[in-house]
Amino acid sequence: MLVVVLLAVVEARGACSVDERGDVREALRRCTSVRVVGEVVAKPVVVTESQTLEIEGRWRAWPTPDGFKILEEKHRQYQPVIDVVGSRVRVTGGGVLDGQGDKYWWHDRAGNHLRPPRLLRVRGEDVEISRLHFINSPFWTIHLFLCRRVTVTNVTITNIGASQTDGVDVDSCEQTLVDSIRVTARDDAIAYKATMGVSRAHVARRVYAAGDGSRGGSLAVGSETNRGISDVLIESSNVENASAGILIKTRPSRGGYIRNILFRDIKMARVHRPLYLDAAYGGDTTSDDCCAVPPRDSAVDVTNITFNTIHATPWDGLRGATLVGTDRVPFRDLHFRGLRLNGTADAAKPSFYKCCCAFGDSSDTFPPSLARPTRRVCWNKKS
Ligand SMILES: *[C@@H]1O[C@H](CO)[C@@H](O)[C@H](O)[C@H]1NC(C)=O
Ligand SMILES: *[C@@H]1O[C@H](CO)[C@@H](O)[C@H](O)[C@H]1NC(C)=O
Ligand SMILES: *[C@@H]1O[C@H](CO)[C@@H](O)[C@H](O)[C@H]1NC(C)=O
Ligand SMILES: *[C@@H]1O[C@H](CO)[C@@H](O)[C@H](O)[C@H]1NC(C)=O
Repeated sequence: MLVVVLLAVVEARGACSVDERGDVREALRRCTSVRVVGEVVAKPVVVTESQTLEIEGRWRAWPTPDGFKILEEKHRQYQPVIDVVGSRVRVTGGGVLDGQGDKYWWHDRAGNHLRPPRLLRVRGEDVEISRLHFINSPFWTIHLFLCRRVTVTNVTITNIGASQTDGVDVDSCEQTLVDSIRVTARDDAIAYKATMGVSRAHVARRVYAAGDGSRGGSLAVGSETNRGISDVLIESSNVENASAGILIKTRPSRGGYIRNILFRDIKMARVHRPLYLDAAYGGDTTSDDCCAVPPRDSAVDVTNITFNTIHATPWDGLRGATLVGTDRVPFRDLHFRGLRLNGTADAAKPSFYKCCCAFGDSSDTFPPSLARPTRRVCWNKKS
């Protein structure tokens, strides 16, 4: 047995290499740099301060709940498959991380409802996630949480099966960069959230996002807005086969704000609603609370959002744009520049834009209804 372990974990100056006979968890306890080669089935691990984890082979998540700790009783949440807790960490390597989500074990042995684990969570500063293929996540795939200066580059995420398998969730972080990622998911491809702390100064570019044809694939802000989300740039990206392309979602009970968001150069194909702004997401208010003039106060401050050069290729499944604020959560200072949303003849009808409590200006839009004040379209063209 000892001989096998010695063969399986080859060490050189704090660098270890682990294959299917080794124990990744144990290697991470002893080595600063761990390379995973071959095929491993591993229990969840914690990667800490200044460590590097290189996955070159295929890592399968532990398939049953018994290997996982329950992190928080309150949210009944399992520990992530890989938990980065610390600074100057790199997770890379060109390999595959398989969450085995098809096993969907949402219940523990006692039959309690628990949240399945996230595939990778990052809590720390100066963390780099790159060159990895994540597949089949049971829940959110990459969760950046209470973090600063984190980059996610050259990553592919392929999730089939269940909903709630978001691609990248940037939650309560500052200064993140997401560049060159491909996500196929039945929920948001990327989502900016602020559950536990302020979320600001983010960039995402070259995101290729796809849903399953009817759901998923969105570039999203919200719905957890409570600590405030601001200064987000999402550009040079593509969305395919999605229900909503750009999705901004919140509701009065969330509180907080969404400010200074810029979507620029986004191309969409086979997206039902390229723009979907929803102030009653997940209930507790309805769009009957529509207002025609800006209210003085708001439960969530949604302001200064720019949509610049958003093109959807003509498609007969295109259902138009939905911009539904409410008197408690109005949308202010929306700026539309260079919008091309063309589908069937419906595009000419005012109903192509479903609009409430949304205020701002537009120029160079097609179809032009945004610029044509009607009962349902709530703002005026800026000349
Ligand atoms: C992605 O990988 C390619 C090839 O290795 C490299 O040229 C490119 O710079 C990487 N992109 C990012 C954003 O790191
Ligand atoms: C999108 O849907 C089309 C038509 O069903 C399909 O050919 C294509 O592969 C899908 N794209 C992605 C990225 O899933
Ligand atoms: C509005 O947001 C843009 C980013 O889209 C930012 O450059 C600008 O300073 C913001 N305006 C205000 C008044 O904060
Ligand atoms: C919009 O689509 C209709 C129907 O496909 C087409 O006749 C029209 O030329 C298109 N207009 C633009 C500006 O693309």
